[in-house]
Amino acid sequence: MPLICFASPKGGVGKTTLAANVACELERAGKEVVALDVDPQNALRLPLGVPLGERLAFTALLQARPDWRRCLRATPSGVGLLAHGPCDLAASIALAAALGAEPELLAGPLRDMLAQPGLYVVADTMPGPSPQLSVMLSLADLVVTVLLVDAGSVSLIPAVESGASYGGTVPARLVYVLNQYDPRTRLGPLIANAVARQLGTRLLGRVYRDEHVAEALAAQKPVADYAPASKAAQDLAHLTVAIVAWLQAASPKAGGVLA
Ligand SMILES: Nc1ncnc2c1ncn2[C@@H]1O[C@H](COP(=O)(O)OP(=O)(O)OP(=O)(O)O)[C@@H](O)[C@H]1O
Ligand SMILES: [Mg+2]
Repeated sequence: MPLICFASPKGGVGKTTLAANVACELERAGKEVVALDVDPQNALRLPLGVPLGERLAFTALLQARPDWRRCLRATPSGVGLLAHGPCDLAASIALAAALGAEPELLAGPLRDMLAQPGLYVVADTMPGPSPQLSVMLSLADLVVTVLLVDAGSVSLIPAVESGASYGGTVPARLVYVLNQYDPRTRLGPLIANAVARQLGTRLLGRVYRDEHVAEALAAQKPVADYAPASKAAQDLAHLTVAIVAWLQAASPKAGGVLA
């Protein structure tokens, strides 16, 4: 344990980017980390440096009850990966239906992972409610909702807080991060300050809109390796520290297994 789940009510907000880079930051801090991709886009492997031609899969195979340890792959980033695997529309629909009927297909292996002492599981999910997300939320130690710094994104905070955005579940520990923050815009600071007032310490931070992030993805490297001095690299490091602090504060053994 623990399980850190990145989620959002909207797509394209930076879940995969933040999940991959936080996983890498945790690994750099000496933790054993598994990055788990439950989004059929199968994109979490890219920032972790897995060559496009490599066919890794875990989530897409769940109906065959795979052994997660056999599906786990080392990546150039140093983080272990349980990839989603390629999945066409029919297979995605069938997988969602199977997980809706039998959540244990995912919950079982996930509980087994979380029973591993010292192991951090960082999960990337698809936007909005899904059977996959419901399983993840039921077991997550921390749910990190990623929002863009725009009116459309932050207007969804009440729906996230009520559980409506996530299929009726209100996670026990729900925190937020603002992504693609640009202080030079007129709205950026206004929106960020309003959200900070509303959420208090549950806003873990903001990540600058920084071209190095997209370049790092193109280079298939963590931002901290590609552009260590960049603003985004600093923000991602701060975000990871804030996540660990939340986990420690929430743990009955604060300063124990998570230290
Ligand atoms: N802080 C940032 N600065 C600049 N570009 C960013 C930043 N964060 C993410 N991006 C870029 O935004 C795009 C979307 O990011 P990402 O794929 O992580 O979003 P997502 O929430 O996982 O999307 P989806 O909902 O489709 O899974 C990517 O091209 C990524 O490189
Ligand atoms: Mg994504």
